[in-house]
Amino acid sequence: MANRAETLRWECGSNQNNVDGHLVLLDQTRLPAEIIEIDCRTVEDVWQAIRRLAVRGAPAIGCAAAYAVCLSAATFDTVEQACDHLATSRPTAVNLFWALDRMREAGKRGATLPAGEFAERMLAEAQAIHEEDRQMCADIGQHGADLLSDLPMGSGILTHCNAGALATGGDGTALSVIFELARRGRRPHVWVDETRPLLQGARLTVWELMQRGIDCTLICDSMAAQVMREGRVQAVVTGADRIAANGDAANKIGTYGVATLAKAHGIPFYIAAPSSTFDRSLATGEAIPIEVRDSLEITHGFGRATSPAGVTVYNPAFDVTPVGLISGIITEAGVVHPSSRC
Ligand code: MRU
Repeated sequence: MANRAETLRWECGSNQNNVDGHLVLLDQTRLPAEIIEIDCRTVEDVWQAIRRLAVRGAPAIGCAAAYAVCLSAATFDTVEQACDHLATSRPTAVNLFWALDRMREAGKRGATLPAGEFAERMLAEAQAIHEEDRQMCADIGQHGADLLSDLPMGSGILTHCNAGALATGGDGTALSVIFELARRGRRPHVWVDETRPLLQGARLTVWELMQRGIDCTLICDSMAAQVMREGRVQAVVTGADRIAANGDAANKIGTYGVATLAKAHGIPFYIAAPSSTFDRSLATGEAIPIEVRDSLEITHGFGRATSPAGVTVYNPAFDVTPVGLISGIITEAGVVHPSSRC
């Protein structure tokens, strides 16, 4: 990204001492108006940042949580406590639990080491998680661009929410595909759903695309049907927060509607996600926990009352797209088609 601030990074402590460092996050709640970084020096700082979406997007949450564990990595017990607490921050993105399980395992393996070495071991694991995510994003981009290589030059690709560099430790999942198509000279035109209620599409995806000089058009979520009917969309690509064993995929609320519309208009609908987003312990999407968030996000979007006081609100943050609506899942290992098992 030009002009970019990194989504997350580990900052060395005094004397370039890595383990005395802390986590720096780009505060995504302030984008696109302001580029503000926040210093997280405790597990609780990161817990709060995840909960209020200062850092968000399934893989980025996992990376941030892994670094958060390092802020408490004095002993195996403090690692366990940190993991237990971080696991309560958000329920849907399985990447969070996947990353915490890796940190717990690293803690177990290093339990008998002296404190300094133990902390180094934990930080090395968090950095490995971050680096692997960066690589998975790059590989997803390649596989996705190969998959979409037959689309005519300048084709319309619709995306929902933000599955870009802001949502991962690398260049993104769905957006990585688009960035790679652009690098290959395919000139994709991206239709960006604004993504109610918190506007991750309007605030974050458009910000990323414009920084990279990629053509894009912002639409309200309710306009997707009309835009598809007008023949402007040749493919849909979104990210995912958790994919069940049968291929049902949870993603930002509204994704299921987009997938349904894509089916109705004969447009292929793809999910792009790394292996850390797969949860094979759940047979179907029915069992995926769906986060329900504060009603204020709907009644007072960005601080201003937009409905009468006292209204009853339901605010599920995610929905599940059934596998039957998914044309393919783009992973770092290649494309999985729903007819084969995930
Ligand atoms: O509530 P958010 O902003 O964390 O939701 C994010 C999404 O739904 C993304 O599409 C998903 O995490 C995939 S990010 C590569």
